[in-house]
Amino acid sequence: MDTNRQRGIAFDVYGTLVDPLGIGAHLRRWVGAAADQVARVWREKQLEYTWRRALMGAYAPFSICTVQALAYAFVQAGATLTPDAQADLMTAYRALPPFADAAAGLAQIRLAGYRMVAFSNGEAAAVRAVLSAAGLMEYLDDVVSVDEIGSFKPDRAVYHHMVKRMGLAADRIWMVSSNPFDVIGAKAAGLRVAWVRRRPDAQFDPWDVAPDLIVEHLGALAVALIAGRG
Ligand code: LAC
Repeated sequence: MDTNRQRGIAFDVYGTLVDPLGIGAHLRRWVGAAADQVARVWREKQLEYTWRRALMGAYAPFSICTVQALAYAFVQAGATLTPDAQADLMTAYRALPPFADAAAGLAQIRLAGYRMVAFSNGEAAAVRAVLSAAGLMEYLDDVVSVDEIGSFKPDRAVYHHMVKRMGLAADRIWMVSSNPFDVIGAKAAGLRVAWVRRRPDAQFDPWDVAPDLIVEHLGALAVALIAGRG
């Protein structure tokens, strides 16, 4: 029998279900008008640090990459990261806002019966905290973290780990992400991939790899999957 429960979906978290740039209001308290710039540099450096650590074989948890990237972004903006600011911002990072379509989209997809997990660079406890605060954890069966094997996306090993954890064949699993590097990494590991193009000006990397599906939001993903394309 071929039911949807034998198919899975792994959702990226930061940038796909919750918005890391939504921390702007908290940042304004500490860096004023530089908030948007600091939010952007913070996110870019956070990802760069994960890639460098994975390449170097020098793993440190995502929360460490996040704090170190925050320190970099503050210095670049000419601001001082006091212990109070760091504590406030790292607490806020566990309560990032969900994207407006996330809850309804996940609920719709869940009705179609897929096995659904969050699959993230974040440590499992942090991912559970941010998804619970955002009201999204209830739609997911589990959280799979790269921390379980000590590397980061897009190391092929982390996708293979997620596939093993889901207990399904790779080609029965969709990876859903707004992050092009994650989409390309998952495709290279044999998964089906959906790119959530969260902004009209979001660009995909010209790597001769195309997503199997491109959607603007999770509602559109639900429609495409339920229409039988998945
Ligand atoms: C994650 C990063 C890629 O959630 O945003 O895994």
